[in-house]
Amino acid sequence: MPSVLITGASDGIGRALVECYRSKGWTVIAHGRRQASRVAPQLPAQVKYVEADLNMPTEDTIARVAQATPDSLDLAILNAGMGVVAPPERTTPAQINDMIAVNTTAPLLLAQALFPRLQAAQGKLTFIGSTAARGAHRDFAVYAATKAALSGAARSLRLEWEGRVPVQIIHPGPTATGMHDKAGLGDIAARKYFTAPDRVARAIETAIEGDKPSVRFGPLFMLRHAIAGSRT
Ligand SMILES: NC(=O)c1ccc[n+]([C@@H]2O[C@H](COP(=O)([O-])OP(=O)(O)OC[C@H]3O[C@@H](n4cnc5c(N)ncnc54)[C@H](OP(=O)(O)O)[C@@H]3O)[C@@H](O)[C@H]2O)c1
Repeated sequence: MPSVLITGASDGIGRALVECYRSKGWTVIAHGRRQASRVAPQLPAQVKYVEADLNMPTEDTIARVAQATPDSLDLAILNAGMGVVAPPERTTPAQINDMIAVNTTAPLLLAQALFPRLQAAQGKLTFIGSTAARGAHRDFAVYAATKAALSGAARSLRLEWEGRVPVQIIHPGPTATGMHDKAGLGDIAARKYFTAPDRVARAIETAIEGDKPSVRFGPLFMLRHAIAGSRT
């Protein structure tokens, strides 16, 4: 069976992706920051869990995550991420560093570490970006910058690794996960239109099956979700 590493699989979109790939019979290696004892009951049986804090990760931490995967890995979905909603003049240096470390530095270090395993399987590398990488959003300047940086890196890696490991970036739009509460987003009215994580996970799975280097779940995707949601 093919194998997939999903980072940030202890919650939200990552956890929904675990369900998608397990239901297809894939071997799933799920990464999260929370302790295994807290996550295991929520994950499907047979999923291997690797616990690692990706904020300022050491070489050992990155190696531990990579070594939890098979020598020949078919797919890596680098999804772990975080945000802080704050006006730019009140975002602290620590918050800026945390967002850069988790959203940009960690996926790039993991991409390096996983490259030989992905190449061995003729596997694929998929980053999870955000529609926030384009456009402008109040209180999201640093988060948007971390995802825009990831987007730029994905374009260059795609060129560097052409013929060896295909590199893709997928940009979901607003999704109804716990990320917004963790980030400090208030109870804004727009939240009722956020897409459900299982729907986003299925759309990510479909995008990964395709060969587009960059996929964005833009307004049309959100509109289709809102209409489907109003019918259920
Ligand atoms: N939700 C949205 O509207 C939205 C929109 C566009 C893109 N995205 C992107 O989609 C991805 C998943 O987001 P989500 O909405 O599913 O968020 P979520 O529900 O908060 O899940 C985030 C995952 O990342 C992990 N994570 C966070 N900080 C970490 C750290 N320091 N070390 C290791 N793991 C860490 C979390 O682990 P713990 O919970 O164990 O800390 C969790 O498993 C992120 O890259 C996010 O930027 C989200």
